[in-house]
Amino acid sequence: MGRLKLGVLVSGNGSNLQAILDHVKEGRLDAEVRVVISDNRTAFAIERAKRSGIPVAVVDYGSSPRREDVENRIIARLREYGVELVVLAGYMKLLTRHFMAAFPMRIMNIHPALLPSFPGVNVVQKAIDYGVRFTGCTVHFIDEGTDTGPIVVQAAVPVMDDDTEETLAQRIHEKEHSIYPMAIQLFAEGRLDVRGRRVFIKGPCSAAGDHCINPYSPRG
Ligand code: GRF
Repeated sequence: MGRLKLGVLVSGNGSNLQAILDHVKEGRLDAEVRVVISDNRTAFAIERAKRSGIPVAVVDYGSSPRREDVENRIIARLREYGVELVVLAGYMKLLTRHFMAAFPMRIMNIHPALLPSFPGVNVVQKAIDYGVRFTGCTVHFIDEGTDTGPIVVQAAVPVMDDDTEETLAQRIHEKEHSIYPMAIQLFAEGRLDVRGRRVFIKGPCSAAGDHCINPYSPRG
């Protein structure tokens, strides 16, 4: 079996894209990023992809009034590169049912909160304002709702009294950079068993890992 072929959709900085690229390079993720697609031509993520020699496509949502037409162009690109798993890494456009039908249970997203708490945008500040003691990040499959799909991996991050949006976001990002590659690796190994809302991990997960990450690291 070859390495899992990824298509990564980005809109911004691309630090999660970078984490995935680094894990691949270091041999810790049995996958290859085949193509990076951005809706924003000034995204720094594009620069990161180019530095790693990954083909980049920019899609212009303003080019057509019908979102499906734009999505068809994205789908065509993903198919052209044989993409098996679509990875949303800070992609700011909502995908329609039409796109999801092209990759059923094959689209993952990462969200900077412990879902179902704080879906949507500006969620790091919202967690601070609410006064939660823990927030974190969630890797989930995409469904038709906003940040509602079956959850694959979550990591908890404590909120400190003196946290600002910036300091907390930074600690959440650090966790994101380990759980996203981890979730993709589990997918690559065929170990994710989605039953309704629940995602079961096939095979043992060692309890020796980071207990703020569930499932515990499959690498032990
Ligand atoms: C991350 O916080 C992710 O959870 C959210 O968008 C942000 C993307 O950051 N979906 P980056 O572009 O990967 O640095």
